[in-house]
Amino acid sequence: MISIAIDGPSGAGKSTLARRLAAHYGYLYVDTGAMYRAVGLYGLRQGTDLADGAAVAALLPGVQLRLGYRDGVQHIYLNGEDVSEAIRAEQVGMAASAVSAHPAVRAFLLDTQRALAKTNSVLMDGRDIGTVVLPDADVKIFLTAAPEVRARRRYDQLREKGLPADYETVLADVKQRDYNDTHRAAAPLCQAPDALLVDTSKLDFEQSFQVLCRIIDRHRKDREEER
Ligand code: DC
Repeated sequence: MISIAIDGPSGAGKSTLARRLAAHYGYLYVDTGAMYRAVGLYGLRQGTDLADGAAVAALLPGVQLRLGYRDGVQHIYLNGEDVSEAIRAEQVGMAASAVSAHPAVRAFLLDTQRALAKTNSVLMDGRDIGTVVLPDADVKIFLTAAPEVRARRRYDQLREKGLPADYETVLADVKQRDYNDTHRAAAPLCQAPDALLVDTSKLDFEQSFQVLCRIIDRHRKDREEER
């Protein structure tokens, strides 16, 4: 069993790269952001004040999350409904960021995340995988890029999907989310001391993929030699 943790701010390319890497190595891809997004979506639908920790904690008994894999692609079910598409909305991203600040929400998701890594070789991405969820992960990568580059990528993605987008608004959202994720008291986004820093500001997808493959291949080779 092997576990690979990829952490970093939103828009650094974590999920696209992690998905491709998991397929390449035959590991299970676990997108922990999707879990926070599903909780955020539930809170939005209930009309809850997402900044209110007690109110959000009170929602959790009504939240049943399940991850399913179809053709290697993770689908997330919220109380039986496949919300994989619905959780991608910009507004749900902000909601996820808000609910993820509450310790009760983090504790609620932690067991599920750890259980997946116990029974599978995983490539897990998020904000606190290398620091909190899997502190003993075999490989830890901290993936980042300049906020302007991340906003540009997000803007291009939205335009490609034909969705209305304004670059300055997207950039402001990226910066706001960075601030929220790094300044919260509970498991804030930060680089684990033993994580390798990869900055993709000047790399395209293929180049970033190759850099990460080299890191993982090196670890696999070292492990083979130890045997
Ligand atoms: O990676 P993402 O954009 O789908 O994540 C959505 C939000 O969820 C993000 O703003 C912070 C939160 N999150 C977290 O706190 N811890 C994780 N392991 C993953 C996501």
